[in-house]
Amino acid sequence: MIRARITGTGSYVPEKVMTNFDFEKFMETSDEWIRTRTGIRERHVAADGENTSDLATKAAERALEMAGVKPEELDGIILGTITGDYPWPATSCIVQANLGAVNASAHDVSAACSGFLFALSSAADRIQAGNAKKMLVIGAEVLTRIIDWEDRNTCILFGDGAGAVVLEAHEGENGILSTHLHTDGNQLELLYQPGFSTKIVPSVEALENRDYFLKMQGNEVFKVAVRSLTEVAEEALEANGMTSEDVNLLIPHQANIRILEATAKRLKLLDERTYINVDRFGNTSGATIPLALDEVNRAGRIKEGDIVLFNAFGGGFTWASALIRW
Ligand SMILES: CC(C)(COP(=O)(O)OP(=O)(O)OC[C@H]1O[C@@H](n2cnc3c(N)ncnc32)[C@H](O)[C@@H]1OP(=O)(O)O)[C@@H](O)C(=O)NCCC(=O)NCCS
Repeated sequence: MIRARITGTGSYVPEKVMTNFDFEKFMETSDEWIRTRTGIRERHVAADGENTSDLATKAAERALEMAGVKPEELDGIILGTITGDYPWPATSCIVQANLGAVNASAHDVSAACSGFLFALSSAADRIQAGNAKKMLVIGAEVLTRIIDWEDRNTCILFGDGAGAVVLEAHEGENGILSTHLHTDGNQLELLYQPGFSTKIVPSVEALENRDYFLKMQGNEVFKVAVRSLTEVAEEALEANGMTSEDVNLLIPHQANIRILEATAKRLKLLDERTYINVDRFGNTSGATIPLALDEVNRAGRIKEGDIVLFNAFGGGFTWASALIRW
């Protein structure tokens, strides 16, 4: 059986670090409030002129280097992002050009914080169907440009970063065992960015409404997120005839420590098997899972044959899981 196997991981975060104490200087908040409600201590912020394609390219170069794959060997690039350089064309087109991946198709996936897993699923499907041999999957965001720096409910949560994986066709039992994807578009206004778009075009009114910024009703999102993240992880285990005892590593979407812990507890994985780095990066949306994966992989924490579970939840709503035998 042909499976898509992760043969390289890479990540990149901008140099500039913004701590919770930096927020205290310009808004009514505190390090203590942010840490206890979210688990976040600091996040990285892109420099002026540093864009999603730049972060994505750097993460991709590192993943390709680890895999020993040349850019021209790639059949396709799929990038999960909601903060592309332009409305169109896709930011992955810029990454394709930057890398010199001349034989790769490139497109973006817009599934908010689930974007990386939606992209991973499509890339794995292409490999398993025999339509591609080597794929590059990226999650990259510059969220600090779409958050409202006057809204203390949201601006403290997000950061910038990128992560990437190289997927290669592999004959055998190792690789992506399953992916599960879900969407419920009925509640999209609980977490979304209204403008600027073809529906809400740039105007004085739209600017005054602060329509360009991410909007979120945190309490409502919290409840749905915990339920969906738990259910989609259980779905992955059940589909593979496994239980949480079989899982060596859970890499959840890093939204918030309370969401992470509530989900891990329900899954009976609230121990050293759940990887958490939200304290250092905040919520980097589509980038959280590949960024965390690259950290654990480079730290040598994953052995061949380990069962690794990913789950994510985001705007849309979208939610997803992937189960991997490393
Ligand atoms: C955003 C979130 C941290 C808020 O925490 P909470 O415990 O729900 O807090 P509440 O919304 O009940 O607000 C409590 C109070 O703190 C205040 N507050 C909000 N942000 C604050 C901040 N940065 N600093 C200080 N106080 C703040 C609120 O204004 C509110 O004050 P009020 O009672 O006087 O109105 C929480 O709802 C959350 O994490 N939601 C999920 C968000 C998320 O992860 N989204 C992405 C999913 S992919």
